[in-house]
Amino acid sequence: MQIGTLYGIGVGPGDPELIPLKGLRRLQTAPVVAFPAGMGGKPGIAQQIIAEWLSPQQVQLALNFPYVQDESVLKQAWQEAAEKVWQYLQQGLDVVFASEGDASFYSTFTYLSQTIRELHPEVEVQIVPGICSPLAAAAAIGIPLTYRAQRLAVLPALYAIEELEMALDWADVVVLLKVSSVYEQVWGVLKQRGLLESSWVVERVTQSQQVIYNNLSDRPHLNLSYFSLAIVQVPNSKNNKAAVGNISPL
Ligand SMILES: C[S@@+](CC[C@H](N)C(=O)[O-])C[C@H]1O[C@@H](n2cnc3c(N)ncnc32)[C@H](O)[C@@H]1O
Repeated sequence: MQIGTLYGIGVGPGDPELIPLKGLRRLQTAPVVAFPAGMGGKPGIAQQIIAEWLSPQQVQLALNFPYVQDESVLKQAWQEAAEKVWQYLQQGLDVVFASEGDASFYSTFTYLSQTIRELHPEVEVQIVPGICSPLAAAAAIGIPLTYRAQRLAVLPALYAIEELEMALDWADVVVLLKVSSVYEQVWGVLKQRGLLESSWVVERVTQSQQVIYNNLSDRPHLNLSYFSLAIVQVPNSKNNKAAVGNISPL
């Protein structure tokens, strides 16, 4: 019997209308739909985004991906998730995995697909891209994320403040993911460099609870959710100084 295909679908940052058409088609026609399990018994974010597009006939598969650093715990969770998915693939059923944002951009889908490939190399894996959070945040603020020759740095998580310093020395625009746990330290660096007025924090972009914080000068403390990111424009960088004219928020 032919085995099923595993699809990784980027379902966008929150607004269910931001699921790309191709991903939506896959989502609605798949017999099995998987997604990261939520915490504390609540539905996870990807599950919330896709809920209105699913039908009762589809199998819904919540997969556990613990938020820990311990490699052995993580590996075991990925293997368990991969085996759960394999149960359906081996019956010839396609499985669609819904990934918040894009499925290739710091997504749990990467671990799932890698583990499936290791355990069952015969499985075909396909990715349908989605809108990732920095792009949605730039649109919500009303700025181009980058233009002309601007260099973009994305820091997925800040484990040392020197990494931010290096990024600000090199890039014209810096995106900081997972900024919630390090916001105060980030604020200190931005203040020192005079960048608070050209920085934004966007929380839960495109979701009903979306908040945009602009001009961070009087916001040394913010109580942010995990789903928050910062965009920092560096007006004095080499490229930005050379740019003709300024592009300000819409
Ligand atoms: C593990 S990464 C996942 C990125 C996701 N795959 C994407 O394409 O945007 C998680 C981080 O992305 C950012 N993020 C994801 N969704 C977001 C949203 N809706 N609003 C703001 N930030 C978000 C946050 O910084 C969060 O800590």
